[in-house]
Amino acid sequence: EKGGYEHFMLKEIHEQPEAVKTTITPRIVNGMPDLSECGLTDDMLKSFRKIFIVACGTAMHAGLVGKYVIEKLARIEVTVDIASEFRYRDPIIGKDDLVIVISQSGETADTKAALHLAKDRGAKVLGIVNVKGSSIARESDMVLYTHAGPEISVASTKAFAVQMSVMYLLAFKLAYVRGTIDETECKRLTGVLASIPNEIEKAMACDEKCKFIGSKLVISPSLLYIGRGLDYALSMEGSLKLKEISYIHSESYAAGELKHGTISLIEEGVPVICVATQSELLEKTISNVSEVKARGAYTIVVGKEGSGIEDKEDKDKNTKLIDDLITVPNLEDIIMPMVTIVPLQLLAYYTTVSKGFDVDKPRNLAKSVTVE
Ligand code: M6R
Repeated sequence: EKGGYEHFMLKEIHEQPEAVKTTITPRIVNGMPDLSECGLTDDMLKSFRKIFIVACGTAMHAGLVGKYVIEKLARIEVTVDIASEFRYRDPIIGKDDLVIVISQSGETADTKAALHLAKDRGAKVLGIVNVKGSSIARESDMVLYTHAGPEISVASTKAFAVQMSVMYLLAFKLAYVRGTIDETECKRLTGVLASIPNEIEKAMACDEKCKFIGSKLVISPSLLYIGRGLDYALSMEGSLKLKEISYIHSESYAAGELKHGTISLIEEGVPVICVATQSELLEKTISNVSEVKARGAYTIVVGKEGSGIEDKEDKDKNTKLIDDLITVPNLEDIIMPMVTIVPLQLLAYYTTVSKGFDVDKPRNLAKSVTVE
């Protein structure tokens, strides 16, 4: 049942190329994104005032990627909320808004409550759900299924990849319909997404490196993830993955926010995992790496292959800035989360294996959180 893998989590990480392919292929027609199956019309896409994305845990992180990509391409405002906060914060939503609820299981209690609130206020609700016929799928006004197949491991991996892939399709479609990108650009971006399953496969080449780093992380009581922009969203997901299965405390920080408090945690040997795939922000992020390195951090960087990142040096000391570098395929910035997620998942996986914990069934957690 584990298909030759030692754990479901590893099997599911490796299923990501296929899961993404199955999710996006039927939704690409003549090179363009096609989401008409759920009843989302061009008129609707043109008229939404605002978009709210509501979810929990990993699904919420897919929403953060969605926000970034939708705002960047379609220039419409997107707010991302944790469902348990959204449902009690009296959000300003109404009939002109689109509320997207993202859930692998389709049964998460808080996400379901958020859906009910959105419907009561007259907003249109689009569910992005993996489990067919689940409550959230049934109760949403429109549903786009992700086709990851059953996800057994409590730590969500392939569900995240497919949720992101739907976010991309939606962003491209919204941008095209709202006139912020033309047909040529929409086709080009859709083509880039269509080639992503192959790139995810290539990203798996970091396996050995992640295993090696994972075996070193086991002695750490705590570590930090940092990143900017899309890399920040990914670092949040990396941190969640690590803490839920390895029981190592970690937190994710926007790299530029370090100086406002968190950098005081850095002392000799504290691991800092820096996600640095966004070209425009690279120099800024690298300067944050040198700041933590100067205070003794063990620096691990996830960056683009061949981006020159491997040669970054600590200018003052003339020593390498990066203790361990993990490279992923060098694609355009906006699509990088689709491949960057792989090493973050593998780092969490191998650290946990090295610790000897139950990877697929971490303590205190359930696969589906059906109570508040
Ligand atoms: O089934 P859902 O996508 O609604 O679940 C949401 C979260 O409970 C879930 O993503 C959780 O954070 C995972 N264990 C993370 O790996």
